[in-house]
Amino acid sequence: MKFVITDYIHSDLKWEEEQCREMGIDYAFYQLKEAPPKELLEVCADADVILVNMAKFNEEVINGLDKCKLLMRHGIGYDNVDLKACNKKDIMLGYYPSYCVNEVAEQAVMLMMACQRKLCQQVNIVSTVTHNGYIDYLSVAPLYRLHGKTIGIIGFGRIGRLVYRMLQGFGVNFLIDDPYLPDEMIQEYGIATVSKEEVLKESDIVTLHVPFNWPETYHLIDEADLKSMKETAILINTSRGPVVNLEALNAALDNCEIAHAGIDVYELEPPKPDLPLLRNKKAICTPHMSWMSVEASWDIRHSYMRDVRRFLNKQAPVNQVNPEISGKLEEEIFQ
Ligand SMILES: NC(=O)c1ccc[n+]([C@@H]2O[C@H](COP(=O)([O-])OP(=O)(O)OC[C@H]3O[C@@H](n4cnc5c(N)ncnc54)[C@H](O)[C@@H]3O)[C@@H](O)[C@H]2O)c1
Repeated sequence: MKFVITDYIHSDLKWEEEQCREMGIDYAFYQLKEAPPKELLEVCADADVILVNMAKFNEEVINGLDKCKLLMRHGIGYDNVDLKACNKKDIMLGYYPSYCVNEVAEQAVMLMMACQRKLCQQVNIVSTVTHNGYIDYLSVAPLYRLHGKTIGIIGFGRIGRLVYRMLQGFGVNFLIDDPYLPDEMIQEYGIATVSKEEVLKESDIVTLHVPFNWPETYHLIDEADLKSMKETAILINTSRGPVVNLEALNAALDNCEIAHAGIDVYELEPPKPDLPLLRNKKAICTPHMSWMSVEASWDIRHSYMRDVRRFLNKQAPVNQVNPEISGKLEEEIFQ
């Protein structure tokens, strides 16, 4: 059996090498995040199990995988992998839905607080104190409290729900939009869902936690949506870049249609240095780092090596996007 990692975010993979040696399996690890299909296929040709982080496993790549039976996406989202092509080729797609859920929720709450309390402006005026001999409070005004405000959550999945739970102590109200939320979840949380339009119109802060699904959530927040928000509103996006039209967002901030934005994800990543939003004083931009923590890193490393071990023992991955495929494969490899 051979295990291939196409690209990774950890500083090294010595621990994974040790695990593979212990299991007695072949392995090869690469850093091919931007590689074209041909290059990916060259290194994946003889792999039974593949782990991908950001490399693009489009139809062409998947169709060329003749040996692979398990593809694992290092993370929650799997929009860089063509699921339909995996299904056609009978390739199981494993993923890690609980990876960095706490970290992303914490980052969303941090961006909310930083925008609401104008953290960057407060930090900036500290340096003027030493020059002026007084604190220029008014340059940061108006400053509002979070207490009593309405938080709109679009996408009430794992991260959206954790943001909701984290904010319970702040004395805020909630408006939630998630058309696919099962009734049991609505009852468990004692909430009612409303339309996206109502969330945008009535919320003081809107935070996005939807997956990127083409075309459904592409530019879910576009020019008209931004115009429908309050002038004092804040938009937070830690989900996926294409969910927000960033050009329209930059214009909305410049035209005072909304007040602030906290953005972690971009349509093109890394964002081009001349992206106007990066220099907009009303935006706090972080470099798609919501996922990052020492704890999350070890959680996922243990989880994907557990799935490699499971494959070796003829078991499907713990979390599979297409569980119907492992049923089909039972006779072939899981007998
Ligand atoms: N910034 C980062 O570092 C980072 C890290 C991990 C995950 N993410 C992203 O965070 C997002 C949320 O992750 P999650 O684990 O909570 O996902 P999840 O699948 O648990 O929840 C997503 C929720 O969005 C809802 N939804 C789908 N389409 C919708 C729509 N059109 N309108 C409203 N709701 C809709 C679904 O019903 C679901 O409840 C994903 O896009 C994921 O890729 C970002």
